[in-house]
Amino acid sequence: MKTYSIALIPGDGIGRDVTDAAWSVLQVAAKTCGFALNGTEFPWSCEFYRKTGRMMPEDGIETLRTFDAILLGAVGWPAEVPDAVSLHGLLLPIRKAFVQYANIRPHRLLPGVQGPLRAEAFDILCIRENTEGEYSGAGGRVHQGTNDEVAVETSIFTRTGVERILRFGFEQARSRRGKLASVTKSNAQKYSMVFWDEITDRLSAEFPDVEVSSYHIDAMAARMVMAPESLDVVVASNLFGDILTDLGAAIQGGLGFAASANINPRRDAPSMFEPVHGSAPDIAGLGIANPIAAIWSGAMMLDHLGEKDAAARIIAAMETATARGIGISPGKDRTETITAGIIAALS
Ligand code: IPM
Ligand code: MN
Repeated sequence: MKTYSIALIPGDGIGRDVTDAAWSVLQVAAKTCGFALNGTEFPWSCEFYRKTGRMMPEDGIETLRTFDAILLGAVGWPAEVPDAVSLHGLLLPIRKAFVQYANIRPHRLLPGVQGPLRAEAFDILCIRENTEGEYSGAGGRVHQGTNDEVAVETSIFTRTGVERILRFGFEQARSRRGKLASVTKSNAQKYSMVFWDEITDRLSAEFPDVEVSSYHIDAMAARMVMAPESLDVVVASNLFGDILTDLGAAIQGGLGFAASANINPRRDAPSMFEPVHGSAPDIAGLGIANPIAAIWSGAMMLDHLGEKDAAARIIAAMETATARGIGISPGKDRTETITAGIIAALS
């Protein structure tokens, strides 16, 4: 039987609950479709940091490299470890080290889910550059603690990085409704963002079947609220994509529904699948986290691994469950009720 080895990193807070939920749904789908998922759990988290002084062991990246994929819950427990420490010690290094340059985030209303907008239907695929740009980590502070203190943080946009994410966006658009929206702020940022626009224009010649529009980030934020149905694939830099995908989560009914995949399209290192939401300390341990974002991310993992049928079955089961009213009112259904509802719809 085909067996995939999956690294499980539940992380902090509700990350544990939703990873357990996703894992049990994935196991049922695997069994139905005749393959096996072999999970190895890593306790890397803020608790691990408290015990060891690190978010993951020194050879953590090398350990993860041997897996087919990584399923991650959430990272962060700001009451005890500053976010800038926990995220730079676990989540962000994995995205970079494994060249997971495409962060894919689908935004659409599941059946039965009432979003905050008048729009009844939209289907947006946000593609966020995931390894460079505003998250490059190039910078420093001088004269720290004095009145002369200076903090510098430089965005880095490379031709390789911009070209590959845009190309990925064009290819996704080609496989969907043929529309690509490229997001920049080239009216104000005249180097990096003009560079991005130029590359978009140049690549569009290679994809004559894709209709391309360029938007500034501010206008895109408004469009996602006012006319989300006009959008298909949206591609943006790391920070812009980060912000737009929380907006995307909001218009699809909340962070409990927002799934994401950190993809290494070259497939020379594992990709990582995680819900967009964080560890939600306010509801951690209450058993009321919505596992749908994590389950949907798990389906994206199976799709990436080539198990298309299993992935489609999970998505369909999720839709059946939400159409039945399960998991659609945040905080109402318990995590285990939603998980059981999806598993029931799977079989
Ligand atoms: C996300 C998160 C992360 C990001 C944080 C936790 C560093 O907000 O995945 O969207 O900004 O990438
Ligand atoms: Mn975010």
